[in-house]
Amino acid sequence: MAEILPADKAMDRALALLGAGEVVAIPTETVYGLAGDAMNGEAVARIFEAKGRPRFNPLIAHVCDMAMAERIGVFDPLSRRLAEKFWPGPLTLVLPLREGAGIHPLTTAGLATIALRMPRGFGGELIARLGRPLAAPSANASGRISPTSAAAVAASLGGRIKLVVDGGAAPVGVESTIVKAEEGGLRLLRPGGIAAEEIEAAAGVKLLRGAAGVQAAVQAPGMLASHYAPQAAMRLHVGEVRPGEALLAFGPNRVPGWQQAVMMRNLSQSGDLREAAANLFAFLHELDSSGAATIAAEPVPMEGLGEAINDRLSRAAAPRDNGGGDA
Ligand code: TXA
Ligand code: MG
Repeated sequence: MAEILPADKAMDRALALLGAGEVVAIPTETVYGLAGDAMNGEAVARIFEAKGRPRFNPLIAHVCDMAMAERIGVFDPLSRRLAEKFWPGPLTLVLPLREGAGIHPLTTAGLATIALRMPRGFGGELIARLGRPLAAPSANASGRISPTSAAAVAASLGGRIKLVVDGGAAPVGVESTIVKAEEGGLRLLRPGGIAAEEIEAAAGVKLLRGAAGVQAAVQAPGMLASHYAPQAAMRLHVGEVRPGEALLAFGPNRVPGWQQAVMMRNLSQSGDLREAAANLFAFLHELDSSGAATIAAEPVPMEGLGEAINDRLSRAAAPRDNGGGDA
């Protein structure tokens, strides 16, 4: 089983493992990541292997400062402005990959673009000490709920990795927002920890949304429908709780039948979408362990972080027979 070390005692061990091409689960402000040297193909292959990921989706390369970011990606003015505003933080920018950057093609899945993010906290310090970017998808077995605690990582991957760094509960709770500057604007590839409205305000442009032709599927191959899947089936935007269901509630008012839920978790009693995002994956996990055949979810409004929450809920509810693509 993986060793679990608190963040303030884990730095040397994490550096030794990463330097040897091993993988380490690390806390970030969004979710826990399974990190490996983005320039070392064997390390990146170990990430896919440990996750049991069915295919090689491109990964996010995590950096510690703008100098490292500029060595890897080619920034346009809009992307630079967003980096200045939101980094370190839950924003991922997809940029043209700089020639000779040394990023292993397994990290990018051979694409000519690279997804870059500067995380807050332990990860940033680790990358600075290592002096190399870290590729890191969420630290869960493929197709399962993203982990927001060291215990959740250990439950999912503990038998397959050597070290989990414990940084406490991930404060944001959903993955980073992914955007890509392209001709004619800025495209939202994945809603996430920074609300689309905030990005629009900083960029001064509306985000383009939805499929950009057939390219879309290739652009974010991790964005397959069946994702973040609990064992239980999911029913969304419910108007009532049916017998035997577990309830994922939101806000101060309950749907009829809530008293008969086999278990209930409220994402945010006060209706705060940030609090709800931070609780989402942990509560799905808890409701799933109740053994209920179905998790009923009350409606969550589509504004602010509600977009990312609804995105993850609809993926959790999607049919599971599509090959289990995961990000
Ligand atoms: O918050 C996060 O972003 C977390 C933490 C650990 O940093 N990471 C994360 O990574 O969610 P992952 O691998 O689960 O999701 C990365 C997403 C996938 O949907 C992938 O397809 C997309 O980023 N992606 C990576 N490179 C891309 C590229 N060059 N173009 C378009 N999408 C890309
Ligand atoms: Mg993931």
